[in-house]
Amino acid sequence: MNASAYARENQQKFLGELQEFLRIPSISAQPAHQHDIERAAAWLSAQLSTAGFPKVEVMATDGPPIVYAEWLTAGADKPTVLVYGHYDVQPPDPLDEWHTPPFEPSVIDDDLFARGASDDKGQALIHVKAAEAFHATAGALPVNVKCIFEGEEEIGSPHLTPFIETHRELLAADLGLISDTHILGKTIPAIIYALRGLAYIEVTVTGPDHDLHSGLYGGAVNNPINALCRMIAQMQDEEGHITIPGFYDKVRALTPEESVDLTKVPFEQKAWLEETGVKADWGEPDYTVVERTTARPTLDVNGIWGGYIEPGAKTVLPSQASAKISMRLVPDQDPVEITRLVKDYLLSIAPPTVNISVKDLHGGEGAIVRRDSPAMKAAFQAYTHVFGTEPIFIREGGSIPVVATFQKILGIETILMGFGLPDDRLHSPNEKFHIPNFYKGIETVVRFMELLGT
Ligand code: BES
Ligand code: ZN
Repeated sequence: MNASAYARENQQKFLGELQEFLRIPSISAQPAHQHDIERAAAWLSAQLSTAGFPKVEVMATDGPPIVYAEWLTAGADKPTVLVYGHYDVQPPDPLDEWHTPPFEPSVIDDDLFARGASDDKGQALIHVKAAEAFHATAGALPVNVKCIFEGEEEIGSPHLTPFIETHRELLAADLGLISDTHILGKTIPAIIYALRGLAYIEVTVTGPDHDLHSGLYGGAVNNPINALCRMIAQMQDEEGHITIPGFYDKVRALTPEESVDLTKVPFEQKAWLEETGVKADWGEPDYTVVERTTARPTLDVNGIWGGYIEPGAKTVLPSQASAKISMRLVPDQDPVEITRLVKDYLLSIAPPTVNISVKDLHGGEGAIVRRDSPAMKAAFQAYTHVFGTEPIFIREGGSIPVVATFQKILGIETILMGFGLPDDRLHSPNEKFHIPNFYKGIETVVRFMELLGT
């Protein structure tokens, strides 16, 4: 039996194991779940040992541990692949919108519903199961493989870059391999070659030093919520252009080849409106929806608070207002530089009647990876083999900052071999993973490794 046949014969077993993994609520954002983070790391390391990795280590950091594994017996003439994934998940909130409990994985038709099913436990496990398939059949991998799985991707990976910096030798490889993205449809494979970056800030506007009666003081005190809203409104025009000076200076324009490729992305306005529940699309009129959501930078308020928000009315003039604001960036925008530009701009437009403070929450660079490498060719062939149709090259709007970190620190390009679907509801209630994609993912990685090793 070869590895692909083993993968096909063991689908039910793999699904059961994924369900075990998903039952661990490894929520990185919530300190109360630290123990679950450790349990998830331990579970994954046991799986890696079973899959045949001779060396598996749960490595401590100042944050969640990094699970490291290596299997380097393919020989010096074979490439070394560095697999990355994350075992942490987003908080499941709002809980009452889930149709099934987020940490009790439920199979409904061909989908597996649970927090982390697609992002990223299901996709991370694909690599472990592909290795297991080789272990159980050939007894060896066709290429050398190193794995790192982190437990704080969903909160901006604060300890990952320092870890990679201090473990350059350990992590040395010829290419990176990540399954943490999606393809375009059940039968439309895609290879993502560009991701957006992120700059994330929190702004606080302070007016009076305590809440005031809005009747006694209103009219003579600049209300911090009103002031914050006016400032936010000045960051973007009605059509969606960001008005912060210098914001677009480094944006790398689409090449003609890329623009043509993006027109191949199947996009149906009606389906998209249904998927999002909005009345109409919005944003820079010179760009299509696909371009706006993948190749253009954005500015969004992710949360805003201040004043009285409990039931009923309270006539108060609040002392403070805050907002969390994130910007999706595109290559070659630098998150540090963008954060500085935004801070400078906010300080320049802040009225003299209030104080403002800007906190840098986190950031990460976008990335564009080479499309003409032998590994990319192998990925292309592997998808074609398993899905029966050629993958489309696309850019994607989400962020995986480690791709740029691998380029800069390890000098390697990454293949983004995703198996999620656009409607997987990542970060939302009712996240799911399409079960046939889990199985196809394992077979695609098996094929990819075989092609890379010949
Ligand atoms: N898996 C996602 C990113 C993703 C999903 C990319 C689908 C492309 C298609 C990842 O776990 C994620 O959500 N990343 C964060 C990164 C941030 C916290 C730095 C994001 O994009 O918000
Ligand atoms: Zn993810």
